[in-house]
Amino acid sequence: MPITEEQVQSPLSADLQAILCCLNCGGKLESDQAQGYVCPACQRAYPNVKGIVRFVDAQHYAASFGFQWHRYQKTQLDQGEVRESDRNFRIKTCLRPEELQGKLVLDVGCGMGRFAEVATRWGARVVGIDLSAAAEVAAINLADREFTAFQADAFALPFAPESFDIIYSVGVLHHTPDCQAAVKSLDKYLKPSGILSVWLYSGYNKWYRFSDFWRRYTHKMEPERLHSVLKVAVPFFYNLERGLRHVPLVGRPAAGAVHHVFPVNRQKDPEARLLDTFDWYSPKYQSKHTYEEVFRWYEAMGMEDMRVGESSIAVRGRKPARRA
Ligand SMILES: C[S@@+](CC[C@H](N)C(=O)[O-])C[C@H]1O[C@@H](n2cnc3c(N)ncnc32)[C@H](O)[C@@H]1O
Repeated sequence: MPITEEQVQSPLSADLQAILCCLNCGGKLESDQAQGYVCPACQRAYPNVKGIVRFVDAQHYAASFGFQWHRYQKTQLDQGEVRESDRNFRIKTCLRPEELQGKLVLDVGCGMGRFAEVATRWGARVVGIDLSAAAEVAAINLADREFTAFQADAFALPFAPESFDIIYSVGVLHHTPDCQAAVKSLDKYLKPSGILSVWLYSGYNKWYRFSDFWRRYTHKMEPERLHSVLKVAVPFFYNLERGLRHVPLVGRPAAGAVHHVFPVNRQKDPEARLLDTFDWYSPKYQSKHTYEEVFRWYEAMGMEDMRVGESSIAVRGRKPARRA
């Protein structure tokens, strides 16, 4: 579905506008009509393009995600009776609906907005940022929600310190050049007693070794080209593996070997399978982490009340209350 210029977000509420800060000098930003935002102190402008205020000048290393979320705008969005993103949000953030009700929440790396959809359904007001043009898709998917999308970099966020009650980031920070620095950079935007929840790829399983090997080459391909290759390769390897399983004796080990060397996602839905396989092979950065590591980062930030989620690596913690 093409994205049209008319599909703009509503003007920002006064309280959201009040937390917007200049990336250059930290000054408060002022609305420049439909043009975007401008800093009265240093005159830096942040244009509004297709209804999204842009705090970056390009998608940088995240262009494959811009392609991915424009191509698969609604595949993972909960619709009708489907509650798959709801289930994933619970196990990957350890957050509960009653904690989000009425809260101002930041979704770091919102993609096409599947988790912001859940958070707004639970009663939160959500600001979603994404480095890629996926922010445009999230804005359209959630046009009828308490949701505002910006194109921005997690390492340079245009918000005043202590702005958000809850910050979550699901499947994002391991796709940055420095996951630890990315996690630690979020702390300053949390209000005292606020919650930080992150979900990262697990470093415990080694099944992904071959996909990491192939990704060294595949991430350099144009996203359109890689997608065309995977459109053929994913059904081929998926069906080969299933076929091999029926061969007596050697079938199962052979199927395992094929999956090990050429891993493709095994979901039943062919579209979801292709989307998730593209998501493995396209990113430039994809680090893996352990609970020990992430707990150390949280402890260094002084986080309290730390918990782990059902899906590794999911860690949440609470920023200490302001001391009197
Ligand atoms: C695998 S997708 C996950 C999207 C969403 N959280 C979800 O689970 O559906 C990773 C997202 O992180 C975004 N991303 C990567 N690096 C980023 C950064 N430095 N700042 C903001 N977003 C970033 C990508 O553009 C992409 O949309």
